[in-house]
Amino acid sequence: MSDPAREIFARTVAEPYRTKMVEHLRLPDREERERVLRAAFFSPVFLQSEDVFIDLITDSGMGAMSDQQWSALMRGDEAYMNSKSFTVFERAVQEVTGYAHVIPTHQGRAAENIVMDLLVKPDDIVLSNTHFDTTRAHVLHRKATPIDLVDDRLWSFAEPHPFKGNFDLAKLSAALERHHERVPLIIITVLNNFACSSPVSMANIREVRRLADKYGIPVFFDACRFAENAHFIREREAGYADKSIGEIASEMFGYGRACWMSAKKDAIVNIGGFIATGEPEFAARCQERLVLYEGFYTYGGLARRDLEAIAVGLREGMDSTYLEHRTRLVEYLGEALARAGFVISRPVGGSGVFVDVEAAYPHLPPSALPGIALCADFYLEGGIRLGAAPFSMKTVSPVTGDILDRVFQFARFAVPRRVYSKAHMDYVGEVAQRVREVARRSAGYRLLNEGALLGHFFAKFEPLVG
Ligand code: F0G
Repeated sequence: MSDPAREIFARTVAEPYRTKMVEHLRLPDREERERVLRAAFFSPVFLQSEDVFIDLITDSGMGAMSDQQWSALMRGDEAYMNSKSFTVFERAVQEVTGYAHVIPTHQGRAAENIVMDLLVKPDDIVLSNTHFDTTRAHVLHRKATPIDLVDDRLWSFAEPHPFKGNFDLAKLSAALERHHERVPLIIITVLNNFACSSPVSMANIREVRRLADKYGIPVFFDACRFAENAHFIREREAGYADKSIGEIASEMFGYGRACWMSAKKDAIVNIGGFIATGEPEFAARCQERLVLYEGFYTYGGLARRDLEAIAVGLREGMDSTYLEHRTRLVEYLGEALARAGFVISRPVGGSGVFVDVEAAYPHLPPSALPGIALCADFYLEGGIRLGAAPFSMKTVSPVTGDILDRVFQFARFAVPRRVYSKAHMDYVGEVAQRVREVARRSAGYRLLNEGALLGHFFAKFEPLVG
């Protein structure tokens, strides 16, 4: 029986939770914002959190834990070895992923470090739909080459595609045919964060597995937003409307040899992560590395109470009502930005709204850093912090497999989970209108220092004078 209340819930984007504790936010006045931004070298990286009114720099580790998670913390059994909390965590991960062996890590990149250490050697080529920046850095750190095989339609922000996160299968075939001897693993990033946070379809995952099998190459999932990906599969892919998030996730993980996850996203915790695999030998190698880098293999760089919070958060992050609200709120922000005149990626994805920076500052060449101009303007006009970067990637020609350099320039308005309300999104939408008005007056920015690996975390800027 259809229930009108469900439709009202979806339309009004009412939160499926209520506030139990509040954290005050401060909106510094205009003069202070100007001073603060100058002191931060015009980079969102150097802004102090207390000077930011709405923080959309990331959806990672900034979520609000539930009462159930906070009470789970109290159950933490802080035994160094084989604590009860590890068993609780292990069971939750096994249940969700179907993989028997679970290795806790303090966050996603610690898992990446271990996996890359074991599998990647100099001159290798790692294939992914899109590597996240730390994933890419870990590959580069081993003197190997990360290649992103996302479809070229990614560059057309406004052109809608339900699964922009997919592998371009022609590119994957060409890359495998040409380079397979150098490929130690294929990474499927779900959902595909730097490809506008767009999901990967099950059909695409299945086909990636089939091609990987042809060459005997293992498939790994970078699974930090697997629940949001499963939600979009259910909403957008034929044949999945009646399946649960758990069923979709378990089919998906079934196509992989292993996964790693930054629990700071879909498990809604402030710290944590893991590797999970069905293969005991591989798990044993990971555990050895874990003891070396992180801690004993039943805590992996975390307090045991953190493991309890992840176990609860994993299940909460897969709740349909929560996911429906979460994705609607991000979409609501997308609509507000589009109304203000920004070109956004459509349909809006999971972690946040991706905006076409070049369309917002058409008068600025890439050398005048329009992304930094956008971040600066949002802070100056409204105390809002967001992220923007020209994202350099290597891809391949779908015909020859030749490696090509590409740049994908975007701004991301990431929405932390269960933190901001629809009114906050309205605020961002109105500030966006002001930014549209002032954007044409920006003369752009100049980079002051050259960063090495992950240089954008260290970059400082100064305004160009028009
Ligand atoms: N993989 C993906 C797809 C990610 O988005 C991230 C982090 C990581 C791996 C690394 O995990 O931060 O726990 O070490 N993404 C955050 C972001 C930082 O802002 O998108 P981590």
